Amino acid sequence: MIRYHRLGDLPKKKHIQFRDEAGKLYAEQLFSTHGFDGPMSTMYHINLPTEVKAWEDMGSVKPVYLDDEPLRHRHLKTAEMKPEGNFVTGRKVLMGNQDCTWAQALVAEPMPENQFFKNTEADEILFVHDGTGTLESMYGDVAVRPGDYVVVPRGTIYRLSLESYPVRLVVMESFGPVSTPKRYRNAYGQMLEHAPYSERDFRAPHELKTYRERADYEVIVRSRGRHTKYTYPFHPFDIVGWDGFVYPVAFSIHDFQPITGAIHMPPPIHQTFAAHGFVVCSFCPRVLDFHPEAIKIPYNHSNVDSDEVLYYCNDKFGSRKGIQEGSITLHPLGIPHGPQPGAVEASMPHTHTNELAVMMDTFRPLKLTAAAVGIEDPNYWKSWQTPTEGNGLDDPGR
Ligand SMILES: [Fe+2]
Repeated sequence: MIRYHRLGDLPKKKHIQFRDEAGKLYAEQLFSTHGFDGPMSTMYHINLPTEVKAWEDMGSVKPVYLDDEPLRHRHLKTAEMKPEGNFVTGRKVLMGNQDCTWAQALVAEPMPENQFFKNTEADEILFVHDGTGTLESMYGDVAVRPGDYVVVPRGTIYRLSLESYPVRLVVMESFGPVSTPKRYRNAYGQMLEHAPYSERDFRAPHELKTYRERADYEVIVRSRGRHTKYTYPFHPFDIVGWDGFVYPVAFSIHDFQPITGAIHMPPPIHQTFAAHGFVVCSFCPRVLDFHPEAIKIPYNHSNVDSDEVLYYCNDKFGSRKGIQEGSITLHPLGIPHGPQPGAVEASMPHTHTNELAVMMDTFRPLKLTAAAVGIEDPNYWKSWQTPTEGNGLDDPGR
């Protein structure tokens, strides 16, 4: 994703003979994107990656979106979710559109020992709220810590193995490729000095484990809105070496270097990832605006062509009260959003914020699912009303 990387053993050139100690040829596989024009990796398998023992249709996993939902600000309380399933089966799609989906999981258990996952229709951005473990992939292992984004390119066979459960996980699917914003990079692809991170912050697979045994292993393949279970007569991590630009990476939200200013800086300074039809931003602890008359939290805002989703990693968000750790707010295009009554004045004495949040801004409206409405705080739209006697709003944060 970021730069050339290689692990394991490789022949001197591509597309030449590469044999094991017994003289058997390894099976070369080119893993290309955007036809042959995008980033690609080349890998060498012990077995033929085309050999399949069996396949089984597992049925549709297409999100079912609610039509014609009324326009209003939303507050979804993921704290009300119950632990369920593994990092694939536990996903509850809350919203989505033609470009992306947002799923939430409170992961209850690991995948079965002989099972892996492959999403062939979307790049995935996993935000691991509070889990520690390993992303095991055909490209090698990536250590995962709380606060990590893990970007998994489509087609990667992988598994998220966590040390303990339950774990809060956000899964953003991107139907276009995920990258860092172009404005952070020079013509050679290198991060520029004004970027809020550098190459050192992106952790590529560090250890390639090659499995040689012949035994049955399953890969749940997500494609065409369905899951198909492929059974292979060998371990899918049978790669002795690979190189290229396609591989999963981890980036910690705690390594994001916030950009601050004398007066309020707009949301693009928080941008972390770019994708087709949406962006992902990180709101991190930082010094607040330091002009002597600065208003230190955002102004009222009508983003006329974006839906804005915020996932709160803690309950310390300067412009918003009444949210919990794990809350999601959705501020749709068409109506303004902004600080709740009293929040601007209350922010004046503060010099720092400890907020930690993940934002997704989409350029096409998001549709909600029944799972989202099922954890909604129905009174959130009232939270900008000034409390008066009799309207039941004793806390302006409601
Ligand atoms: Fe906004």
